[in-house]
Amino acid sequence: MNLVVVVCGTRPEIIKMAPVITELERRSAKFFILHTGQHYSYNLDKVFFEQLQIPQAKYNLEVGSGSHAEQTARILTGVEKVLLQEEPDVLLVEGDTNSVLGGALAAVKLHIKVGHVEAGLRSYDRTMPEEINRILTDHCSDYLFAPTDKAKTTLLSEGIPEKNISVTGNTIVDAVYQNLSKAGQKPDALDVLNLRSKEYFLVTLHRQENVDNRQRFASILHGLDRLADEFKLPIIYPIHPRSQKRINDYQLRSQNLTLIDPVDYLGFLQLENNARLILTDSGGVQEESCILRVPCVTLRDNTERPETVDVGANIIAGVGPEDIYRCSKTMLDRENNWQNPFGDGKAGERIVDTILGG
Ligand code: UD1
Ligand code: UDP
Repeated sequence: MNLVVVVCGTRPEIIKMAPVITELERRSAKFFILHTGQHYSYNLDKVFFEQLQIPQAKYNLEVGSGSHAEQTARILTGVEKVLLQEEPDVLLVEGDTNSVLGGALAAVKLHIKVGHVEAGLRSYDRTMPEEINRILTDHCSDYLFAPTDKAKTTLLSEGIPEKNISVTGNTIVDAVYQNLSKAGQKPDALDVLNLRSKEYFLVTLHRQENVDNRQRFASILHGLDRLADEFKLPIIYPIHPRSQKRINDYQLRSQNLTLIDPVDYLGFLQLENNARLILTDSGGVQEESCILRVPCVTLRDNTERPETVDVGANIIAGVGPEDIYRCSKTMLDRENNWQNPFGDGKAGERIVDTILGG
């Protein structure tokens, strides 16, 4: 039986790999988890291992934060050492972070097969670090797990052989389906914040191109303040540490936003599911809002998840205050009867079928 190494480095990778890990365990497959340590704060890391009940990582490279080159280089050399020691058959990565690129590159150079979960996404914006990571990872992978037909078409158009691509759905659907009812049983995240269902907006913002640019970040906060004024509803923003750091550095202020620490997965699912509207620059949150049928406004100039826009669940607003207001109004007026384009919640099973069978 193949020995599989599952690489995780950041919050979304842990959440989206959890269904694959659970399936590997269910089949008593030979595998271990290699954590790069890109995320290390309790509420971006360990809380998800505990809540999603996944085994501890066998290795943690503790690469921490740094410039792109520093962080990726530490991941690359750290992963290589582990691969030389363990000699696995397959390495799995998920998404588009520096951990994904570092893991995939270390493996392909050692002729270890690479499986890329969530392959074929493109924003066509090469200024985003994630876009570079996606393209390079796809092009050094042996197994490309495309979440949708559209992602498969993109990969084919870039010359990836069809035999290497499988359309599996996105593992985020598995994660939402497996955890939504548990989220309902947990002490209510809404009570703690004094919120009523469908009477607040939920915001997340952490992308480098938004929060590391003072003008863009200030413009978004201004737009959100205006929304709170117009709609007279609380706006809850669980804030990523990158963004908190920038708010402090740039001395930005917002009168109307409620900033809270990052939330655990079950609590965050509750907050998403009960929101009237979600505004975000996160990839995973665009998908989850679509799956949960909560309208979404994307605070970016593009998306690598166009399926959400095509089904009517999402709109691309950019970062101008007037655009944010106009797009929010459009989404609030829209019926939420769209179909989830990301699959049936069995992506984890399909991915494990392929790597154990191959
Ligand atoms: C990374 C990914 C991004 C993904 C996000 C998920 C890359 C290039 N970016 O961005 O695609 O959407 O994760 O959340 O891989 N920090 C902490 N605690 C932590 C981790 C980070 O305080 O556990 C702070 C540090 O100040 C650090 C900053 O956040 O400098 C940014 O962390 P980094 O890993 O570079 O990128 P993210 O913004 O987390
Ligand atoms: N998330 C969470 N708590 C939070 C904010 C987000 O559990 O306070 C989860 C969310 O449900 C989604 C994932 O984190 O599954 C998205 O990660 P993030 O936005 O950090 O990264 P991206 O998806 O943009 O790469």
